[in-house]
This record gives sequence, structure tokens and C-alpha cells, in this order.
Amino acid sequence: MDQIIVQGGKSLSGEITVSGAKNAALPAMASVLLGDGDYELSNIPRVVDIHTMAELLRRLGVQAEWSAEQANRLALTVRGVQSCEAPYELVKTMRASILVLGPLLARWGRANVSLPGGCAIGARPVDLHLMGLQKMGAEIGIAHGYIEAKATRLKGATILFDQPTVTGTENLMMAATLAQGTTVLDNAACEPEVADLAACLIRRGARISGAGTRRVVIEGIERLTDGLHQHEVIPDRIEAGTYLVAGAITRGRLTVGNCRPSHMQAVIQKLQAAGAEMREEADRVVIDGPSRPTAVDAETAPYPGFPTDMQAQFMALMAVAKGQSVISELVFEQRLTHVAELQRMGARIQVQGVHAKIQGVERLSGAPVMASDLRASAGLVLAALVAEGESRIQRIYHLDRGYERMVEKLRGVGAVIERVSGDRAGAGRAAS
Ligand code: UD1
Repeated sequence: MDQIIVQGGKSLSGEITVSGAKNAALPAMASVLLGDGDYELSNIPRVVDIHTMAELLRRLGVQAEWSAEQANRLALTVRGVQSCEAPYELVKTMRASILVLGPLLARWGRANVSLPGGCAIGARPVDLHLMGLQKMGAEIGIAHGYIEAKATRLKGATILFDQPTVTGTENLMMAATLAQGTTVLDNAACEPEVADLAACLIRRGARISGAGTRRVVIEGIERLTDGLHQHEVIPDRIEAGTYLVAGAITRGRLTVGNCRPSHMQAVIQKLQAAGAEMREEADRVVIDGPSRPTAVDAETAPYPGFPTDMQAQFMALMAVAKGQSVISELVFEQRLTHVAELQRMGARIQVQGVHAKIQGVERLSGAPVMASDLRASAGLVLAALVAEGESRIQRIYHLDRGYERMVEKLRGVGAVIERVSGDRAGAGRAAS
């Protein structure tokens, strides 16, 4: 298995360009199942989760091909579907496969989607997705590890989420697009990715208002418009935030380009509170890292709160801050698996339930560490950038799920970082 090797201690400077948002691209891709047509999606990051969704769509009968002219453009062609089944072998590698459930059911009348099961960051059930579809008249059963859903035509309904769910809101918004009557989603997720999906659907004739707020109203229509549909997904605010932390943690000066500062306010404000100087422009943020960050508390919350997807990265920063901070993970239980690995690099962190108390240290020390999930891996890379000596990050397939060319991007701003293949990684270990 590949590893990432980092020699820490280099201050980063220069510009990093952010890729398109994986979490906006995935629902946009699933949404093509809502009708026959030709779709061109651009700013799609070439990361493993996107390849998994493309593979899933192909199994359902969609043609999916990368453009020869533009590296990040994906062409999708839908002429009916051949299957309505999302198999276990794909769903187990990517929970977001559940996003095909709503469109398949609304347009093709049935869907069999493997239950995602547990994952490294907690139970992550899909009960709210199923509750919403049932309220819209779907018949839903669970058999042999699969969700089996059927409906003749879904009916509009008022659905109140107990707690905001991002993919749940997206799934029901897509399903409601073709339902009979009006659907109201209350306590909906407000993430920019939800609003981006709505924009993509509205361009195809969907009648959606309020996406990006707590209340989304969808007036169902019989079918979306034919023809060629184009959509450019928004920049990845989590990738952008990760590189801002890279600037802060290495006391560097970085420009993070092709991002939307308005989508990143919670992160920008925390970095400012930690002592970074930030300058926002229309589509870029410039960060000047502090000589040593100040400790600041953070708790994760649905958008516009501090994103759970930035928690591990911010913890790496707090690990070297002056003073003590508390980071509370209030969105996903069990999303503190990176703590043990940061401790191996010399971080002083105590976990009590969902709270991590961090006593900042002056220096981290490079160590072999193991990634446990996508964002935890990013946190470890950031810690390695500032740690003394060499760090080897293993199980980086997690990182490949969501960061496009991370090693190249960091190397481009001065990091001493390389990716080594399984064989070389093993040889290195044996020699050392
Ligand atoms: C999405 C993001 C993920 C991010 C998360 C929270 C995608 C592809 N993934 O995941 O990167 O970390 O939002 O910002 O967009 N819940 C239930 N029942 C449900 C659904 C969710 O109890 O049916 C709970 C979850 O366990 C969690 C909370 O709701 O505690 C939020 O989860 P949710 O917003 O659904 O996360 P995802 O959409 O899976």
C-alpha cells in the first residue's frame, strides 16, 4: 500500500488551486438518474469517491466518460436504466452511494440499495432518508442487507428532519423534484453543496426554492427538460480549509485560489482567532500564519457552523498552539480516531466522550502514523508538515477518496513530501 512521507519543518509559500467539491459532485452525478439526457459536469475532482460513483452509474446503465479536452469534465449519458441496484461492494466503499436511492425511486419506480452499515466515524444511519421517502408514499423494506424501495409515483409531503442531514436533504430534494404535489423539507441541511445541487436541478426545470436555508420547498413536476445539461460544481470548501490550515501550521504565506470565501467563514474566523492574518478576495483567501497559533476552542456543527470535516485538521493546528483548547465533535460520534495518531507524534490530547482537550506543545515529532478516515488523514499530513523529522502516513487510500493531487499541490508550495508505492514503502521500512 502506498504511503506519504513528509519531512516536516518547511514553511509553505505560494499559491494552491482548489479543486471542485467532491460532496457537490456526488449528488450532481446521482441526479442524472432523474431523467434521460446528456449531461456535462465540470470542475469534478478526479478522486476515488468520484470514480466509485461513476462506476455505480455505469452499473445502472449510465454512460460516464471523462472529457479528452478538459481533465475535470465528466460527460454522462442516460437512456433509460438497466438496473436499479446499488450493490454492496460499491456502497461499502462509499456511503454516499445512497444518493442514487431518491432519483432511482422517483424516476424509475424502484431501487435496491445496499445498506451502508457502520463506518469508521460512527453509526451514520440512513433512517431519515427512508422516513422521508415513506412519507412520500414509497414502500420500503429491508431484506438481505438491502433497502428495497418501490413507488408508482411519489407524492409531495411535509418532512421534518430530527436533525439536519446533508445527503438526506439531497436525496429527498431529488426525489421530490418528480413527485406529485409540493414537498416541504423542514430543518433541512443548509450546506452550500445542497444549494449547488438545487441550482443544477433548477437549470433542468425543477421547481425548488429555499435550498441553502432550513426550509426547502419543492413543487413536483412530471419530467425534467430534455437536451444537453451543463453544470459546474462549486469549489471544495473543505480542501480549501485544509490548505489554509497548512499555511497556518507551517507559519507560511499561502494563497488558496479558486475558492468561495463566503462558504468558509467559520473556518476563516477560527484561524483568525488563532492568530493568522487573513485576506479575502472574490475567489481566493491569503493566509499569513502566526509565529505560533493561539489556542481556541471549536465545536463542530451543521453549516454555517464549524464543519466536522475540518475538525481533524484544526486539531493538528491546536496541537502546536500556545495554551489549551477544547475541540468538541458534536456531529459524528467516534470521529476522534486521529487523536491516538497525533499523540504518537507528541501531541498532548485527552479525550472525554466527544471532547478533546488539547494542551499545545512547542514541537511535534515525526513518526509513522496510520490514517483512519478521509479527514483524519488530512489532519495527519498537516501535523507531519510541522513535525520535526520524518513522518510516514500509511493507509492513504482514505486520502485518495477526497483530495485531488494533494502531494503535488503541497510540494508546489514548498513542502517536502512524496508518495511512495507499496514496494518502496516496505523497502524503506526494512532499511530503517
Ligand atoms: C455529509 C458529507 C460528509 C460530512 C457530513 C456532515 C457528503 C457526501 N458527505 O455526510 O463529508 O461529514 O455530511 O457535514 O456530502 N443522521 C441520522 N440519520 C440519517 C442521516 C444522518 O441520524 O438518516 C445523522 C448522522 O449520524 C450524523 C448527522 O445526522 O450524526 C449528520 O449526518 P449527515 O449530514 O447525514 O452526513 P452525510 O450526509 O452522510
